[in-house]
Amino acid sequence: KPLTLDYSNMLAHVTEKDLEAAIAGQRTRLEGLLDPPAAQSEMLGWVNVDGCTGAALVSRITETAREIRENAEVFLLIGVGGSNQGARAVIKALQPDGIPEILYAGNNLSPRYLERILAQIRGRSVYANVIAKNFATLEPGICFRIIRQFMEAAYGKEAAAARIIATGSPDGSSLERLASAKGYRFLPFPPDVGGRFSVLSAVGLLPIAVSGVPIQELLQGARDMARLLKTQPLTENIAVRYGVARNLLLAKRFRLEILAYFEPLLKYFAKWWVQLFGESEGKDGTGIFPAACSFSEDLHALGQYIQDGRKMIFETFINLEEPGARLPIPADHGTADGFDYLDGKDFTDLNKIAFEATVRAHVAGGVPALILNVPALTPYYLGQLFYFFEYACYISATILGVNPFDQPGVEAYKTHMFSQLKRKNNP
Ligand code: PA5
Repeated sequence: KPLTLDYSNMLAHVTEKDLEAAIAGQRTRLEGLLDPPAAQSEMLGWVNVDGCTGAALVSRITETAREIRENAEVFLLIGVGGSNQGARAVIKALQPDGIPEILYAGNNLSPRYLERILAQIRGRSVYANVIAKNFATLEPGICFRIIRQFMEAAYGKEAAAARIIATGSPDGSSLERLASAKGYRFLPFPPDVGGRFSVLSAVGLLPIAVSGVPIQELLQGARDMARLLKTQPLTENIAVRYGVARNLLLAKRFRLEILAYFEPLLKYFAKWWVQLFGESEGKDGTGIFPAACSFSEDLHALGQYIQDGRKMIFETFINLEEPGARLPIPADHGTADGFDYLDGKDFTDLNKIAFEATVRAHVAGGVPALILNVPALTPYYLGQLFYFFEYACYISATILGVNPFDQPGVEAYKTHMFSQLKRKNNP
């Protein structure tokens, strides 16, 4: 069963006719995006799920992950942006048993944070995966120096090297050179895949496999979504419709999209989504600002603004059709807590009713809503979701007229920082 998108709650602003007309108006271009010639962009490696990994690499990743699961108490993922967001999204949502403990480093410059990580790994069996496309990014680069020195001191140089896996560009990048000089195992960061599109490559798959989440199911979900997007007629194609609908909403001045969910386990998936759309579309003075809300908690915070504030927001709700747990509400006769009206219900009912009520209230308040129906929170459906959003983002950014695969805006702060730090060369 695939994901489905329900547009009925945006029709007051963008109608089915508008959507169909917009798709018909750019049919040839959209067809080209669904079947891109290899030459069209150097950054479309992620489109072919198996081309990105391949059976040999998947079995190498599985073997390495098995060894780490057998020996590690802690696994450190050192990376930032696209180099950690995808794996973290899956692990935080689905890691079955918390073994090994997975910690994230190299994604900020806080000394307190890194000190705490060092305290958490001291005296324990540690493996580390440093992930960086070209290893020029300051956060993972300098954090990895601290971690490898720590591990060399703890285990000795040779044994530390056996516990470190580097994932980087396989074309002579500085990380590849460092790995070969130190004797680390090395996994390829595909040169034709950008960080935020890399979760289904070795970049995301090793940490995910280490967490015990079955990567084959994730990949199968992505493959099935790839097949669906290739075979669905243009007017029914969910990636096309989502990409076109977002742009029509933007044209109506809905400049901010909130990915809203009622399952807190999706927090880091939503962060991945924010990065994907923010870095891919926010450029050249345009783009929809992506944000995320965890409901019902955020109904008690941003909910006020969404309902009542400036009319510039639309929402994309993730509706988990099978919530994955039941928790009946027991009666408590004799205690006047004021909640007897809930007796006999289940938390699942409450969450569902809160979701439906939120959609109804926000739509009535002038906030268009799209509802993405997801059958269940499983590796398979996360695979579908990753592929769906990556493709939809590529389509949406192209319609918007920006390059989805670069991030020139990220360089501005780096230029100032590096000049203050007196970095000489810009590798
Ligand atoms: O999506 C992207 O390309 C970026 O977010 C990068 O992943 C991020 O800047 C980290 O880059 P690197 O892996 O080279 O350290």
